[in-house]
Amino acid sequence: MKKMKIAIDGPASAGKSTIAKKVAETLGYIYLDTGAMYRTLTYAALSNGTDLQNEEALSKLLKGISITFSTAGNESQRVFLNDEDVTESIRSEVVTQKVSLVSSFAKVREEMVARQKKIAHSGGVVMDGRDIGTVVLPDAEVKIFMTASAEERAQRRYKENLAKGMTTSLEELTEDMKLRDHLDSTRAISPLKKAEDAIVLDSTHLDIEEVVERILSIIKERLNPLQTLN
Ligand code: CDP
Ligand code: CDP
Repeated sequence: MKKMKIAIDGPASAGKSTIAKKVAETLGYIYLDTGAMYRTLTYAALSNGTDLQNEEALSKLLKGISITFSTAGNESQRVFLNDEDVTESIRSEVVTQKVSLVSSFAKVREEMVARQKKIAHSGGVVMDGRDIGTVVLPDAEVKIFMTASAEERAQRRYKENLAKGMTTSLEELTEDMKLRDHLDSTRAISPLKKAEDAIVLDSTHLDIEEVVERILSIIKERLNPLQTLN
């Protein structure tokens, strides 16, 4: 069967990574969390005191580090900065607040996009982020633009954080998320926007399984358009 490329974009906490992971598992595809790559660079820059406004310094830092993913057994994917496991550290509040700045620079994005394209080269990949359908995989067979209301997205992130023992208030989270979405959608280079040929999926009133089912049926349709007409 043809190995496809599947692109999932959308604002923060729309459910992209949860759903992308499940779709990839079902299809036996690779899952690539591109947000984790930008978060890892941000974490690396904060750790070694790189000036976050300095495009050259960030680009040089990125060229010298490896960002890799590993899955052991049934455990969820872990993220490595060189050989340091940064899976939890890259979700900290300080990284979340600075990642949109770091990811706004052309030289950072060029290098990230090159790495992402290389990983997706032979297909069989589900990738989620902000510019996947528009820039990284413009040739993806399936493009989903996943949304949910701002209130629902803030509630989801709030519940997720509480479960992890994080104490940021719902109000603060909502403000941070709005600011990040604004920065991501208005930056000059590769802003978050729906690709012309992407299908919009509003998950406000859908649970995880329902969203996964919808995407799998869209994929099936793409694979075998004639069959679904019968
Ligand atoms: O999971 P969450 O929605 O919090 O965000 P993420 O997917 O981990 O992405 C973190 C940040 O990385 C985003 O807010 C963007 O600033 C940036 N990003 C990007 O610019 N391009 C991508 N393809 C993915 C993420
Ligand atoms: O990757 P992104 O930031 O778009 O979102 P996520 O990290 O996959 O999802 C954020 C939270 O929403 C997670 O705790 C998911 O379990 C939850 N979620 C949900 O409750 N209902 C959905 N339809 C999708 C995600």
